[in-house]
Amino acid sequence: MRVARCAELLAQHHGLDTTRARLAGMLHDLARLYSGERLLEECGIRGLSVNEFERKNPVVLHARLGAEIARERFGVKDAAVLAAIAKHTLGDAEMSALDCAVYLADALEPGRDYPERAGLWELACRDLDEAMRRTLAASLDHYARKGGDVAPQTAAAVRAFALSPKEAQTAGTY
Ligand SMILES: [Fe+2]
Repeated sequence: MRVARCAELLAQHHGLDTTRARLAGMLHDLARLYSGERLLEECGIRGLSVNEFERKNPVVLHARLGAEIARERFGVKDAAVLAAIAKHTLGDAEMSALDCAVYLADALEPGRDYPERAGLWELACRDLDEAMRRTLAASLDHYARKGGDVAPQTAAAVRAFALSPKEAQTAGTY
């Protein structure tokens, strides 16, 4: 519910469709409580490709599987909503403004507890791209501290946002 509210607020700030944002927020974690084993099994049944990172960290599959379940069980046909659900955990090389709003709502909702959260949320209300760049950077720092791999989808998102003109101007500031 917090993610739905945050996604809706970001949509309001940025002139996006608030209904789509709220719906994606409501349904984004449909598969979050499945075990890793079940996530792999359910993806297998549906013929979803699973990369090496996902096989090692099956919890991240809840995003892509969640989009499938939103379609199958909740009758969601809106590709924009389904994409936002599918990309909410790892990001992707291509992200629409709605994808970003839901990704940021998930990363920055008030239940998350890390020092940069409040500042990043304020930034997200003003500038989605800049907030994506900084939030992705914060998650890379997090992975680096944990010594874990970075998902190829997240690496692709980092590259995509780093290539924005704003990034070129402010490169090196974090
Ligand atoms: Fe999630």
